[in-house]
Amino acid sequence: MAELTKNTLAPGPKPSRARLAVRNVPVVTVPATARAGTVAFQALGKTYVSSTGTVTALEAIDVEIPAGNIFGIIGRSGAGKSSLLRTINRLEDPTEGRVLVDGQDIGRLGEDGLVALRRRIGMIFQHFNLLSAKTVRQNVALPLLVAGVEKRHIDERVDEVLALVGLEGKHDVYPSRLSGGQKQRVGIARALVHRPEILLCDEATSALDPETTLSILQLLKAINGTMGPTIILITHEMSVIREICENVLVLEQGRIVEKGPVWQVFGTPKHAATRALLKPLSRDVPDDIAARLVLSPVNGGEAVVEVRYTGVEGAGPDLSRLTSAFAGQVRLLHGSVDRIQGHAHGTLLLAARDVSQKHLDALKGHVASTRILGYVRRDV
Ligand SMILES: Nc1ncnc2c1ncn2[C@@H]1O[C@H](COP(=O)(O)OP(=O)(O)OP(=O)(O)O)[C@@H](O)[C@H]1O
Ligand SMILES: [Mg+2]
Repeated sequence: MAELTKNTLAPGPKPSRARLAVRNVPVVTVPATARAGTVAFQALGKTYVSSTGTVTALEAIDVEIPAGNIFGIIGRSGAGKSSLLRTINRLEDPTEGRVLVDGQDIGRLGEDGLVALRRRIGMIFQHFNLLSAKTVRQNVALPLLVAGVEKRHIDERVDEVLALVGLEGKHDVYPSRLSGGQKQRVGIARALVHRPEILLCDEATSALDPETTLSILQLLKAINGTMGPTIILITHEMSVIREICENVLVLEQGRIVEKGPVWQVFGTPKHAATRALLKPLSRDVPDDIAARLVLSPVNGGEAVVEVRYTGVEGAGPDLSRLTSAFAGQVRLLHGSVDRIQGHAHGTLLLAARDVSQKHLDALKGHVASTRILGYVRRDV
């Protein structure tokens, strides 16, 4: 990937509204006080009416997404994620409530205002949506061509964004000759040609392998850090949210059931839907240990203690404190501790003899929770 320097699209701090304007293309004026890129949903609802019936896809959605945030939207299939995302650039219009972009009710925009709004909002898709009969350069240039930008400016801009996404030398290649990751880079370049203040990503990495996913996430993070757009992304992969998002919103049957900083929502999920979504990230008790757990203490056996970190505790596990809370030898059986936004988050399984509630109480405040899962007769 090209280095993000002052010579590329990424000129240091968050660009001003004026810089986001493409030459010769009108932009909607943003009030001087607002930082470009805020999105607010107010009492938003969406009902689809079709010949097969009525579906309430979204209800009572109230959220504010700060400018420059990397914001995740998660939820089971059919929860309303895409419907919500698509109201931001008015690919869908809400049936109730409103969407404000930079404080402006986008439902009130006329045709010209809508065209200008869509230039401020880039979008990338799961299946890239590239035109197969056009080269990389032509695909990326298309939005500028449609906007009536002069050819020399188009070339300049296309070179900039292709360098930014690490596709120098691929200008004249057709999409069929590119890997999935490279196709998505073209999709990202195309979404960035108007220097948008908001980037919408609907399952942008779902078609990619884990390594390519990671490289695309790093690219999005770098773009957010330098060009500064608000990035709003939908994904079924919780690891994606954990990797790059600052805040997350959980939808269930069209309603918000949870929202907040990722480390909080992932550390202490309150709703069953969130817990179900996070299941793939949690490492349950390994089968061989689970098979040997019994409910009551065993003579000469050990207690298996689960120690959870949810991020609230701040620092990572202090092992000496953990072991000194117990009376005798403590063995680490299993576990993992990740870090999300600088907060330790995970579970350890310990085995120790003669564990009482008093020992567990000694860890209060230091870890999120402790509990005895059961007992084992002999070493596991
Ligand atoms: N154009 C439409 N006409 C009728 N119903 C629709 C339309 N688009 C979406 N729906 C319905 O609205 C609900 C929410 O759909 P949406 O696509 O927003 O969910 P999603 O969370 O993005 O799901 P997925 O994870 O499968 O992409 C679903 O019940 C869906 O069937
Ligand atoms: Mg969807």
